[in-house]
Amino acid sequence: MHRAETCHVRPWTAPQQRRPSLSIVYKGDLERGREWERFFAVHAPELQFRLWPDFGRAEEVSYFVTWQPPDDVSAVFPNLQVLFSSGAGVDQFDLNRVPSHVRIVRMIEPGIIDGMVEYATLATLLHHRNFIDYAERQRRREWSGMRVLPASSRHVGVMGLGMLGCAVLERLRTFGFALSGWNRSPRAIEGVACFAGEERFAEFLGGCDILLCLLPLTEKTRGILCGETFARLKRGAALVNIGRGGHLVEADLLEALASGQLSAAVLDVAATEPLPADHPFWGHPRIVVTPHVASMTQPRTAAKALLANIRRHQAGEPLVGTVDRSRGY
Ligand code: GLV
Repeated sequence: MHRAETCHVRPWTAPQQRRPSLSIVYKGDLERGREWERFFAVHAPELQFRLWPDFGRAEEVSYFVTWQPPDDVSAVFPNLQVLFSSGAGVDQFDLNRVPSHVRIVRMIEPGIIDGMVEYATLATLLHHRNFIDYAERQRRREWSGMRVLPASSRHVGVMGLGMLGCAVLERLRTFGFALSGWNRSPRAIEGVACFAGEERFAEFLGGCDILLCLLPLTEKTRGILCGETFARLKRGAALVNIGRGGHLVEADLLEALASGQLSAAVLDVAATEPLPADHPFWGHPRIVVTPHVASMTQPRTAAKALLANIRRHQAGEPLVGTVDRSRGY
């Protein structure tokens, strides 16, 4: 009888599945980045959250969150799957430089929405309650009042009915303003007269005393705040631009203010940022300028929104805020 041969071959076992490590890189303000990092350390310790420029092994990076990616983002992160904007907009990205298989996602998070609602409300009330007139009167040491009109007598129009525009309208409704909204595609919002498409733009503008721009900047919306648009508003109307500087034809605004077609403007954005020191907007008595601060991404709420989106991605579900490259937002 043969002795059973000792088997020197180890029984077959499935090779250890080596899970690729996934890392997320944040590029932006470091102090705020640390807040995102702390959130991920507590809520998703299995994911590596790294702060640019210490991103570890570039080939492990699947998710990149930033306001300004490097030009050669696909060379820096060859296995990138999703590029997240750390802000609400993506017009600062050169979409042609991001490979087509990489998804691009806007930041939709409650902190940005709350900030925008505050600013839009403040600017609308500032116009409604004539604060720009009172600032001028104060400079002249003039104690004289203007008639206080009820909010219901003011017609406020909001351009852009995405998450931000809708949240702004919801808050403005509580004051009793007459409200209209304009959007590329149709929307229905309670208590708001909604208009859609270029063909209804003039009709939307017709009744407005205060016009707020919250549109994304695309080739279709660039320069939309121009003389022709202002001419359709009620005479003496006021403007709030919390979209992008590229929406506004700056010379047309100055002309509309000089002619009295517009009475005032609150501008949080400018074609050139920072606004050059010699720009006429700085010293204009009917313009209030703020340095692109209408709203800011809030690390805690944004990190939570980012993690929820990463979980969706890992589960093969659609991501909130996915950009349609053909529309540009
Ligand atoms: C700021 O402008 C943003 O897009 O978040």
